[in-house]
Order: sequence, then structure tokens, then C-alpha cells
Amino acid sequence: MASSLRIFRLPIAVQRLGKMTMSINSRKGGMGFLRLRQSYLNIIHNFASGGGTGEEKDTGAGGSRKSGSKYGSGGGGIWAILAGAGGAASYYYWESLQESGLSDGVTAEMLGCDCKRTIVSYQKVYNAIAKILEEDPDYDDGSYGPVFIRLAWHSSGTYSKEDQTGGSNKGTMRFEPESKYNSNKGLEIPRNKLEKVKEQFPWISYGDLWTLAAVCSVQEMGGPTVPWKAGRCDGTSKECAPDGRLPNCGDPCAQQARDIFYRMGFEDKEIVALIGAHALGRCHVDRSGFDGPWTASPTTFSNGFYTELLGKTWKKREWDGLKQYEDEETKELMMTPADMSFKKDCKFRKWVKIYAENDEMFREDFSKAYKKLLEVGVPFPEDATDMILKSTK
Ligand code: HEM
Repeated sequence: MASSLRIFRLPIAVQRLGKMTMSINSRKGGMGFLRLRQSYLNIIHNFASGGGTGEEKDTGAGGSRKSGSKYGSGGGGIWAILAGAGGAASYYYWESLQESGLSDGVTAEMLGCDCKRTIVSYQKVYNAIAKILEEDPDYDDGSYGPVFIRLAWHSSGTYSKEDQTGGSNKGTMRFEPESKYNSNKGLEIPRNKLEKVKEQFPWISYGDLWTLAAVCSVQEMGGPTVPWKAGRCDGTSKECAPDGRLPNCGDPCAQQARDIFYRMGFEDKEIVALIGAHALGRCHVDRSGFDGPWTASPTTFSNGFYTELLGKTWKKREWDGLKQYEDEETKELMMTPADMSFKKDCKFRKWVKIYAENDEMFREDFSKAYKKLLEVGVPFPEDATDMILKSTK
């Protein structure tokens, strides 16, 4: 949609009209702005496609579908043309705001904060994410699930309770410098993949989309239900979290994990529950420098990280890369020095043992801790409630 709009080179006067409309509306508040934007999108969409389209755009329960069909069915009247041109100009302006940061009195809350939707709308987004999880059988082990889980963790894990910055709220990993931090290498893959879903549901904020993708991935890969809340608002490049807030996995010290997770408000038990996500996915030499999966079933949620960590004999791998460990028996599984610290540190080890022996308890504790991680620092609207999205399997 955005790129096709660029094809229309709008006359300057029409662009100004759009900009004027936008400034007036900005003063009325964020939701009005967004409803207007959604209406414009529908108008343009219907206008450009002659009132009918093959691709379904979910406009949710907010009533904007109504305005779209009203203008779309008019059949090309002069009002529809003017409204369409003004709308295109406004959208063009809105898009350039997104790229450049804030200006002209437009606040961050006005960008992508259209969270007044019902569970029906979010279930549609969930289903669309579930549909793309395994659409590229050649990608890694056949699922984007693990890397979606990592995207949401790196988006949320920048939170600091000291100054209340960072976290999943603003979806700032789209912007430089955050997108270029070493710890976020490779995360353009899930971000780009999820653009397909964002195009289908343009009203959802990036923070909501990425965290919902993670919840969907956990559930679709056989994990526990993770209740999820909507209400994150998109921010700008000026709100990027500082570098250095995510783990440096070459550091074998348990204190590193504690420093990072205590900064967000987690305790030891929760940290150990969260690291259990390493039963999923793998390391990539071109991303972190490490290589290989932690378990033999990297697309099935399980307590395998703990059982492998305790049950296998781990030897230093002989290779040219970063220091990592391989299992003596098959040499196909791996652990990083940071993973090994969960076995060495006696307070962490206590929970590793409990979760290795009690899968049910791990599932419950993971769900609670992961939900907390996805929500740290997010100022949800007062009426935001937990939603249980249904698995498609
Ligand atoms: C001490 C904390 C942590 C460290 C040091 C760490 C380190 C790493 C490293 C080095 C990778 C490999 C990246 C790559 O090469 O693609 C990775 C992947 C992954 N991490 Fe973590 N991580 C930590 C915490 C977490 C948490 C809290 C979660 C989620 C709850 C998580 C979920 C994942 C997943 C699912 C992958 C696989 C991604 C893929 O397959 O592309 N990690 N992690």
C-alpha cells in the first residue's frame, strides 16, 4: 500500500490540504487521528481498486469498515476523488512522519496506537501469523517461531525500571541505531517477515504485532497458553533504547544474566524459566557467532533445555569460532558459556533441576514470566484486559 501510493505524485496543493487536515485533527487527540487515518486508508484503498479488492484488510470493530464501503461504493464521484486525494496526501505525510520522527505537534501516541479492538480482530492477526510460521520449509528448522520469540524478547528486554525506558512499547527496533545493535543481528528477518501481516492489519502497532507473534509462536509450537494484552504504541527513532541492555552471551558469568533481568524486575526463578526458551531454535554463526541448536527438537516447546543441560556431558568445541560447548555423544547440540552458567550457579541450578523434573511447572512458570517480559514498562490503557488467543492446531 505504502509503496503503491508513492506512484501517485500528488500536486503540492493537495499535499498541503492533507497536511492541514492532519494538523487540525492532531489537536483533537490520537484516536481521532487514527480513526481518520484508517478511514483514509479505506477510501484510498477502495478508490484505487475501484471499490473492490482481492486482499482482505481487517478494519476491526472500530467501525472504519463502514466508512470505507460508503466511499468505495460511490463509483468515482467528485467527492470521492477529492476525499481520496486529500486522504492520500495525509497518508503520505503520516508515512513521512514515521520515517523521520516527530514534527508539527504530532505526538508519539498518535502513531500506531489503535488498540481499541475486540479479541475477534486480534484472533485474526494471530491466525495470519500462524499461517506464515511454517510457510518457508527451508528456513532454519522449518519454522519462524523461534526467531519471532527472540524478536519479542529483544524488543522487550531493553526495559530498565530505573528510568522506565526501553521495553516493547514503542517498537523502536525498526529504527537505527537499535536495528543495528550487535545483539539484534539477524532480527531484520522476523521483522521483515511480519511486515506481511502488518500490511494486512495496518492498524496494529509494531509492539503489539511482535509480542503477539511471539505468543502465537509459543502456543503453535506446543507451548503453554500465554495471555496477551494489546495497547503498545509505536514510537520514533528518538526513543530507541540504548545499546548494551541485552546479554553478551560470551560472558560465562551468571551475574550478567542477573544484572540484566534484575534491571527489568525479574527474580532468579523467573530468569531460569525464561532461559528455557532455548529449547527452541538455534544459534547462527552470522548472527551471534555461535553455531547449532540446544535440543534435537528445536520447533517443539519443551523443558528440553534443562534436561539436556543436566543430562549430557558438555565438552568445549574445537573450532575457529567463539567458545561454546558440544554434547560429547552426538556433537550436534550446543550450549554457550552463558547457558552453562545456569548449571554452575547453585541458585540457578536449583530451578534448572526443578524444571527438568517437572515439565508442567515449567510451562506454567514460563507462561507467567514470558507474559511479564512482554509487558514490562508498557503503559497499557486502563481498560486493557488479558486475551487468550486460540491456537490454530
Ligand atoms: C541470559 C540470557 C540470554 C542469552 C545470553 C541468550 C543468548 C542467545 C543467543 C546467543 C542466541 C543465538 C542467536 C543467533 O545466533 O541466532 C539466542 C537465540 C535464541 N534465544 Fe536467547 N538468550 C538469552 C535469553 C533468552 C530469553 C529470555 C528468551 C525468550 C524467553 C530467549 C529466546 C531465544 C530463542 C527462541 C532463540 C532462537 C532464535 C532462532 O532460532 O533464531 N533467549 N539466544
